[in-house]
Amino acid sequence: MKISLIALVIAASSVAVLTGIVAAKEVAKDVLRPGSVSRSEGLKAWNRIEAVVTHPRCANCHVDAKAIPIWTPAGETKPRVHGMNIHGGESRKGEEAVPCSTCHMTSTQANEPAPAPPRAGIDWQLAPVAFIWFGKSGAEICAQMKDPKRNGGRDAAGLVEHLRHDASLSGFIPRGWAPGAGRTTPPGSFEEHVKDVALWGAAGQPCPN
Ligand code: HEC
Ligand code: HEC
Repeated sequence: MKISLIALVIAASSVAVLTGIVAAKEVAKDVLRPGSVSRSEGLKAWNRIEAVVTHPRCANCHVDAKAIPIWTPAGETKPRVHGMNIHGGESRKGEEAVPCSTCHMTSTQANEPAPAPPRAGIDWQLAPVAFIWFGKSGAEICAQMKDPKRNGGRDAAGLVEHLRHDASLSGFIPRGWAPGAGRTTPPGSFEEHVKDVALWGAAGQPCPN
């Protein structure tokens, strides 16, 4: 009994190590050599990134310190304040009042059609205040996304790594393209978004004026 338990622990940890190696390899494959992409190609890639990060599937969680989540119910295009007086609080998870997890399940199962609350493989929560996108212009988001002080300490490769890491957990980002029937998706695909972030990075993260 004891031995099989030990074997299980060893097996589980080697899987974790292997997944880590695979993730690192995948990121190395995604990241392009700095300087290998022109500034104008980089700006084109940024324009496509901007269309993704300002889309409700992304921006609705990336809100300011008031911590009020936004929603865009099926059939609507204009974002509005989340119903039921929901507040993220300082925890950004609603711990001070009604926790997000009351309705938003932590689950790798596919999202159900709207109006079911969307779920993800990681605990549902607002993005940190520094990562505010909702209501910001593309140029503002661009300047912020390349500033390690306002993006979680990430360089260009680190941003690509974040996308792969999030996807490995069935997190919020790939699910933006699989939000449950009835909800619109950002333009392109998750894989195209990863490519664009790599292109933008290799071009030196140029921003529009
Ligand atoms: C459920 C809320 C939620 C949704 C929806 C969401 N995010 Fe986030 N996002 C977060 C949280 C929480 C973090 C902080 C995670 C971390 O830094 O480890 C974050 C961090 C990030 C970061 C790194 C920091 C930065 O601002 O540069 C990027 C990039 C990002 N998200 C991209 C996206 C994209 C693209 C989408 C849509 C396809 C999206 N997010 C949708 C909650 C969300
Ligand atoms: C009482 C249930 C409930 C609670 C608690 C709740 N939500 Fe929601 N949430 C929903 C429902 C239902 C939807 C889907 C609305 C729709 O699309 O029609 C939703 C949608 C959202 C959306 C929009 C997602 C998108 O793709 O546009 C965001 C963002 C969100 N919730 C954030 C939060 C956060 C953050 C918390 C915790 C602070 C939270 N919610 C707590 C029920 C809840």
